[in-house]
Amino acid sequence: MTGPLIIVNLKAYAEGTGEQATRIAAAAREVAEESGAVIGVAPAYTDLGIIARDYDVPVYAQHIDGVVPGAHTGHVTAEQVRAAGAFGTLVNHSERRLTLAEIDAALSAARRCGLQAVICTNNVATTAAAAALAPEYVAIEPPELIGTGVSVSKADPGIIERSVAAVRAVNPEVKVLTGAGISTGECVKIALELGTDGVLLASGVVKARDPAAALRDLVSLL
Ligand code: G3P
Repeated sequence: MTGPLIIVNLKAYAEGTGEQATRIAAAAREVAEESGAVIGVAPAYTDLGIIARDYDVPVYAQHIDGVVPGAHTGHVTAEQVRAAGAFGTLVNHSERRLTLAEIDAALSAARRCGLQAVICTNNVATTAAAAALAPEYVAIEPPELIGTGVSVSKADPGIIERSVAAVRAVNPEVKVLTGAGISTGECVKIALELGTDGVLLASGVVKARDPAAALRDLVSLL
């Protein structure tokens, strides 16, 4: 994949579940095709397989457990999401926090299965620590802004700049996303100008009356 990456996390929103999830995946495919932007979606496990099969968009799991296939009731392995068609996975989202050892195990599992890993972080120190593990992406998301509609790009550009600098100092190969409250092309533009490689967002698209229009706005200034 080249160019900035936009990942739409459908979380467990009713507006991003079942038929609504496929509607958002269709919108992502449509806007990616017309704009040339790279737009991925992170659906619930229950929708992942259908979206990966029927929509030509990069699909991310919202979480994986760092275990090998076997007797692990209620766990989700990298092998399972890969077999269902996932391209990558989020790890350590603010709403699905892990210990450092669990993050490391999940990352090893992602590598074993060829899944692109996006480790989510909540501040500059955890961003630097995540970069030291060498995932493909880290995604800095100040938890207090998540779901508020107040954009990290405007409310806390400093955390983006400091996170980008921290990642470059630790491992320049690791790419950086940012998220929380992102909903417009201007938010995306600022995030890219601050040195990121894209954004991770949810409510701005999932809760929009017209997800395709929301996505068009997001890519409008690329
Ligand atoms: O994973 C994306 C996320 O946590 C940000 O959510 O609703 O503020 O875009 P939102």
